[in-house]
Amino acid sequence: MKGIKFYSISSYIPDKVVTNDDMSRIVDTNDEWIRTRTGIERRHFASDCTNVSMAVRAAEKALSQSGIDPEKLCCVVVASFTSEIHSPSVACLVQRELGLPDHVMAFDINAACSGFIYGLGIVRGLLMQNEDCYALLVGSEKLSNFTNFEDRSTCVLFGDGAGAAVLGLDERAFYSEYGAHGDDSLIYCGVGLKDTPMEPLRMNGGEVFKFAVEHIEYVINKLLEKSGLTIDDIDHVVCHQANKRIISNIARKMKSAEKFFVDIEEFGNTSSASIPIALDDMNRRGMLKRGDKIICVGFGGGLTWGGVLTEW
Ligand code: ACO
Repeated sequence: MKGIKFYSISSYIPDKVVTNDDMSRIVDTNDEWIRTRTGIERRHFASDCTNVSMAVRAAEKALSQSGIDPEKLCCVVVASFTSEIHSPSVACLVQRELGLPDHVMAFDINAACSGFIYGLGIVRGLLMQNEDCYALLVGSEKLSNFTNFEDRSTCVLFGDGAGAAVLGLDERAFYSEYGAHGDDSLIYCGVGLKDTPMEPLRMNGGEVFKFAVEHIEYVINKLLEKSGLTIDDIDHVVCHQANKRIISNIARKMKSAEKFFVDIEEFGNTSSASIPIALDDMNRRGMLKRGDKIICVGFGGGLTWGGVLTEW
């Protein structure tokens, strides 16, 4: 069994802090509603940078912290669905900005908030074709590009940011579980075309809440079943940070609230960036020790879901 080793983890969070009180000056909302319904206290907006530049900054840090020679990279994969441009891909621009060699394969994946977790599975497959190389995986989202600032039920939820990791293969344990259910009625975000305007992100929050709780629980149980472990053997569970109540709901069902990491209060929902941002946050707080068993679970637009059980 070939597992994935994190050689580094990093993030880039834009400077502009937007509090719940700031949001209440844009739409009819208030701090109390947002905190109690979502756990969010503030989010960061990338007012002075693009999705690409956030991805570049997170990737640059991850590469320099990893100590890996860029010549040894075989791929750059960026999970994102909120970029300003479709081609070239964000990954190709990261490759150019970091001056990575031409033998590095570069492409984007769109699995919305499951993107980084999908990326772990894809990157592992690529690394297994060439075990003597490393991968740069990035989750980067400028959700403020696609947020409808007239819709209070969605605009208060999202933030911008990017997270990145340099990954390689080794013998540690690794289990994964993935799925998708094509649906455009619960979460939809349409780009503008020549004759049609952009359709900003819309969501049926109540139904997505139910989908999230059901699928996070399903994925965790599958990972435990595949690995032969129980939740007591797991040190940390890192769910996509979409709503604190979703995470508390699962934590209660699993009777292990202390294992479920939450940092949504600071960043809001940053889609595919939320899991690498959370891992970086935990690492900087000194919460991650070599050998810790971690479950990460993503879910979101598509609909998509996925999880991995790995060792730090
Ligand atoms: N401020 C004040 N009131 C509000 C706001 C707001 N920002 N938004 C909605 N309300 C009101 C509604 O109008 C409604 O009022 P009414 O009862 O008079 O009609 C009331 O609050 C309750 O609204 P609900 O939508 O039922 O609120 P709910 O408790 O379901 O919370 C929320 C909404 C936070 C969106 C929740 O459903 C949720 O988090 N869902 C999951 C979202 C998610 O996980 N997304 C991840 C995927 S996103 C992606 O893939 C990009």
